[in-house]
Amino acid sequence: MRKKIVAGNWKMNTTVPEGIELAKAVVEASSQVPSDVKLIIATPFTHLYPIAEVVKGSVVALSAENCADKEKGAYTGEVSAAMLESVGCQYTILGHSERRQYYGETDEKLVEKTRLALAHGLDVILCVGENLEEREAGKHFDVCAEQIKNVLYHFSAEELAHIVVAYEPVWAIGTGKTATAEQAQEIHAFIRQTIAEKFGKQAAEQTSILYGGSCKPSNAKELFAQKDIDGGLIGGAALKAEDFIGIAMSF
Ligand code: PGA
Repeated sequence: MRKKIVAGNWKMNTTVPEGIELAKAVVEASSQVPSDVKLIIATPFTHLYPIAEVVKGSVVALSAENCADKEKGAYTGEVSAAMLESVGCQYTILGHSERRQYYGETDEKLVEKTRLALAHGLDVILCVGENLEEREAGKHFDVCAEQIKNVLYHFSAEELAHIVVAYEPVWAIGTGKTATAEQAQEIHAFIRQTIAEKFGKQAAEQTSILYGGSCKPSNAKELFAQKDIDGGLIGGAALKAEDFIGIAMSF
């Protein structure tokens, strides 16, 4: 059985005190969530150390939103996988479309980042997804397959067990425009098939594939009911504990 996961991606939101309050509220409400649903919060780097204390002993796991593509050294402004591990982080998001779009994240860099994250005991939430132009041109399958092949195919089946894939159509992120459950299911099944081509059906069946893009309590149920949708990567709605937990209760 693959894991059901609801992960909150806070992006560049909240100050540290606000983040601590939000994390406390999530921990407090987490008892309402069925125990087979894994809860993760991904916070800005500055928040990780104090929030690791807040989530300690709870069911909520801690994630970063990015990590460096280098082990250590003279890379001003970067945060390494080893640093994340040292503050008690268990996951990191990699390849979010905002990083690909605004910060020159390439698939080549993502291979390095993923390699380093895994080497330091972090599980990876790897994001893929097409933009509006690609969707309208009917290229969404090709774009996702390429992103999967360019990064995931560099790893072993053993390593794949520590990678969660998040399908996030760029046109649905923060726009209020969600992919329909059918659109999402179709591409999730395709992503699973692409994973199976390299790693075999069994490994693909065990890989959690999350949907992200304007997911909220009102649409999560329909999305999560799809056969190949194993949860969500939540942006805006993760900034309110009530909405985030509401989504996690939608399985
Ligand atoms: P959104 O963001 O839920 O605000 O659309 C999702 C994401 O970018 O991870």
